[in-house]
Amino acid sequence: MKKQNKGRTTRDGIRIHDQAEFAGMHAAGRLAAQILDEIAPHVVPGQTTGALDKMIEDKVNAAGAKSATIGYKGYQHASCISVNHVVCHGIPGDKKIKDGDILNIDVTVIVDGWFGDTSRMYVAGKLSRKAERLLQVTHDSLMLGIEAARPGNTFGDIGHAIQSYVESQKMSVVRDFCGHGLGEVFHAPPNVLHYGRPGTGPKLEEGMFFTIEPMVNLGRPETKVLADEWTAVTRDKSLSAQFEHSIGVTAGAPEIFTLSPSGKFHPTYG
Ligand code: MF3
Ligand code: CO
Ligand code: CO
Repeated sequence: MKKQNKGRTTRDGIRIHDQAEFAGMHAAGRLAAQILDEIAPHVVPGQTTGALDKMIEDKVNAAGAKSATIGYKGYQHASCISVNHVVCHGIPGDKKIKDGDILNIDVTVIVDGWFGDTSRMYVAGKLSRKAERLLQVTHDSLMLGIEAARPGNTFGDIGHAIQSYVESQKMSVVRDFCGHGLGEVFHAPPNVLHYGRPGTGPKLEEGMFFTIEPMVNLGRPETKVLADEWTAVTRDKSLSAQFEHSIGVTAGAPEIFTLSPSGKFHPTYG
């Protein structure tokens, strides 16, 4: 028998989910976050990004889940690993991580048909002062975006919260990539922009599921994609950072599906 689709879709094409569907996202988000927790001790100088990806793939399989990225538009890995001036979609390989590198690891898993998508920053060895500030501002900008994700607000309010904070810290928000609706699909409406004007864009409603995943650069916001057709880098080679959560809108504070079970989302503070 075909599964009945409950809920509804807004005129912007955004799916409204019911309570039972929050539970599905919770399980998927938790697994993705737990895998990122377990990978942390392995992010050390000398390690390759390919070996980290292999560990992630093994953990997804051991949990009886599926990787959403293997086979997605031809992508062949269980994670994206973006080092230093790589903005996003870094392809794991045999390059060794060096002392002082900062890297984003982004994992998306499918559990019982639900997609959990999260990424966070890691530090190999000694963290420089300017990288530390970049990580803090990027993390805090995500949290400010999440705080703005309440019914009655608009998606422009989320983007504005992120952009105004980042720019007040003299850093820049990447425009070329955005967050996205998700649920029983990987990428769905709306595009969740990390910049914007208050009061613009679709209105948020209880039951919407989406990611917020700001990419912040120390230099200019422009990016380019390398010849491998995935790796996005800063045009000016400046350092870039990103944090991503999958969330669900409720009547009150949003539910963060991808909270770290061990409280290790940010590498140097809670
Ligand atoms: N997880 C990424 C996101 O946040 C998408 C990665 S797609 C891949 O939307 F193919 F590059 F893995
Ligand atoms: Co995402
Ligand atoms: Co992601």
